[in-house]
Amino acid sequence: MKEPVPRKELDRARDLLGTADRIVVLTGAGISAESGVPTFRSADGLWKTFRAEELATPEAFARDPRLVWEWYGWRRELIAACVPNPAHQALARLALADPMRITLVTQNVDGLHHRAARAEAGSGDPTRALPLELHGAIHRDRCSACDRLDREPVAVDASSEATLPRCPDCAALMRPDVVWFGEALDHEVLGAALSAAERADVCLVVGTSALVYPAASLPDVTRSRGGSVIEVNPEATALSASATVSLRGSAGRLVPEIAV
Ligand code: OAD
Repeated sequence: MKEPVPRKELDRARDLLGTADRIVVLTGAGISAESGVPTFRSADGLWKTFRAEELATPEAFARDPRLVWEWYGWRRELIAACVPNPAHQALARLALADPMRITLVTQNVDGLHHRAARAEAGSGDPTRALPLELHGAIHRDRCSACDRLDREPVAVDASSEATLPRCPDCAALMRPDVVWFGEALDHEVLGAALSAAERADVCLVVGTSALVYPAASLPDVTRSRGGSVIEVNPEATALSASATVSLRGSAGRLVPEIAV
């Protein structure tokens, strides 16, 4: 059993968040682990079982689009059966309570922050609790050749290449609207995230190994402007040594304790 997080550390994190004028939150796969979404690099993570270069690169899609769609179809189904956990809910409440203070930024493609925002907003407007999605969204389709984006994708039949979805505008193959290895991030989304990190007094980093750039640079940006970095993760990461406060524990337990 892991050591409990020292009360002093929890209080320090809560104080930093409570007194900050502006907060940027960076989340990774670990925030969704307690919802049942697999992470990438943990002991049972996706990249321990699957090879990224065969499934999550433009070259892989060009070589074998059926295999890539089969994998994304499996992940879509898995994610559709998951629900937001107390960490997503606490961040959504924090953002809705004072939208000008908080910018949520996620590397996750699972849409769970969106679902938490809509649920917490009730009949109100969830917009300001929606995250900047650095790596796209798995439930959206976009054309592999033109600008077409479908927010409500149809179910994908990956039984053969002939049954894969095609763009109604240009007939090229549709693909999941996610960022693959070797692809650039949307520069407007990245620019908004970097500018939020520059303005933030605190960068709260939840459930990421902090190994994938440029997302992993956001805490450095906040720190280089004199801000603080709070990390929530059961394991030590690339970020832990330089974090102002590093809380060892699960997001579902710790985030609701400090994000109040
Ligand atoms: P990783 O799988 O690299 O890291 C997940 C982190 O979550 C690890 O540091 C775990 O210790 C931590 N973790 C596990 N369970 C947790 C829990 N209950 N609470 C809090 N933390 C927990 O995932 P990311 O850092 O998100 O990119 O990976 C970054 C990017 O690499 C992903 O967005 C994806 C991947 O390749 C793309 O798809 C472009």
